[in-house]
Amino acid sequence: MKIAIVGCGFVFDIYMRTIRAHPELEVVGVFDKSSERMKSVCTYYGFHSYQSIAEMLDDPEVEIVVNLTNIGSHYEVSRQALEAGKHVYSEKPLTKSLDQSRELFAIAEERRVRLYCAPSNIYSDTVRTIASAVAHGAIGKPLLVYAELDDSPIRLAGFENVFSRTGAPWPLYEEVREGCTYEHLGYHLVWICALFGPAVSVTAFSAELVGHKAKGLPAKVGTPDYSVANLYFSNGTAARITCSVVAPRDHRMRVIGEEGEISAAGYRRYRTPVRLERFTRGSLSARKLEVFQRHPILGSLFGVGGRRIPLSRNWKSEAVERDQQIRSTSQQRVIDWVRRRQVYAQDKFVGVAEMAREICEGKPQYLSPEFLLHLNELTLLTQNAGPQGVAVTPTTTFAPLGPIPGTFRRQPSLTTFRQRPLERLVPRL
Ligand SMILES: NC(=O)c1ccc[n+]([C@@H]2O[C@H](COP(=O)([O-])OP(=O)(O)OC[C@H]3O[C@@H](n4cnc5c(N)ncnc54)[C@H](O)[C@@H]3O)[C@@H](O)[C@H]2O)c1
Repeated sequence: MKIAIVGCGFVFDIYMRTIRAHPELEVVGVFDKSSERMKSVCTYYGFHSYQSIAEMLDDPEVEIVVNLTNIGSHYEVSRQALEAGKHVYSEKPLTKSLDQSRELFAIAEERRVRLYCAPSNIYSDTVRTIASAVAHGAIGKPLLVYAELDDSPIRLAGFENVFSRTGAPWPLYEEVREGCTYEHLGYHLVWICALFGPAVSVTAFSAELVGHKAKGLPAKVGTPDYSVANLYFSNGTAARITCSVVAPRDHRMRVIGEEGEISAAGYRRYRTPVRLERFTRGSLSARKLEVFQRHPILGSLFGVGGRRIPLSRNWKSEAVERDQQIRSTSQQRVIDWVRRRQVYAQDKFVGVAEMAREICEGKPQYLSPEFLLHLNELTLLTQNAGPQGVAVTPTTTFAPLGPIPGTFRRQPSLTTFRQRPLERLVPRL
């Protein structure tokens, strides 16, 4: 399908890392209100530039508008595109007001076009693997989810010196003003709600703990840099999601069930290994030994943390495995190779690819409008909970989504794990 992109900032270049894995998506042009940014990306990638958003929306070739503008512009840009009869894929959060988000879906319905929203990590192999293992009973009945999104102390991370491939500065002021909850909560909400359905209650807290996060901004900007959301689902599962730019990086995802735990070190690398621990008396006892806490590899011999399970693959898995950059020096390729294996490797375009596939095949929207509205409501509730906290029943809900589309390889049965020999040796301490 033919797409046009609005917003040529930092994340634009992250999207571009995997564009070549999606030949079915053709970029017909881009627009940014900053002519400098537009010129930079057009020079680098060879894209056509539009002189205005109106010119872009008047172009009959454009089928999908990908909205990569700042959060404050999401509503206005998406509204204009939907009203012009274009499908829209927006960066998250969809808007900063549930009423505005509802309005966008109403316009989409009226114009018979579709509105989708990031994040796309629901389509990662890591999330597919967790979802399929839980669905196949690998941990028994799921009871509890712990999801961390600590992204390191923002004021110490040196973001002032981070630039994208085409020279866009990492938007430090924007990230501080909008806050880590708007920016990050969706990455965990998307997989947790896809697995367990709509939250029937939310208890949330948010606060701004740290001052002077960026030079040139007031000491406190009035936006939380720490939040915690406790969700409760109708099947009896509870989830706790933490976001901060206060604590050092920790992106762990853990689902604990009656019989075991499934975990991954983070969502930001789409093929992050997934581990399964089937609880045994040995593995639970071994945790008490300090030596195993200090030396996780040793602990794993006694069953602590379980073992890696084969990752599911999706129709676009190769996007995060191979060098997809449009232009790369050999030095850059080495850096990218290490990054893909050790830091992060996302395929941000896979959400647009899934959207295009559903439109072309006339399939219903897997991430349904009701689902996306629910995520938006939970994000807004958590961001705005404040230090006194809130305990509320969300106003939005959605029908279960079912299995994540596009999975190629499913796991073998994971419920018949045999204990490791050493597990049996651990005394009951
Ligand atoms: N920075 C990241 O690492 C990152 C990662 C994932 C998602 N995101 C999301 O992507 C979006 C963009 O983030 P970013 O980091 O690229 O920000 P950015 O500030 O670097 O870029 C945003 C661009 O949008 C343009 N823009 C804003 N309003 C516009 C409008 N009305 N019309 C045309 N152009 C407009 C700006 O001029 C700017 O070039 C945000 O929603 C953010 O949450 C960012």
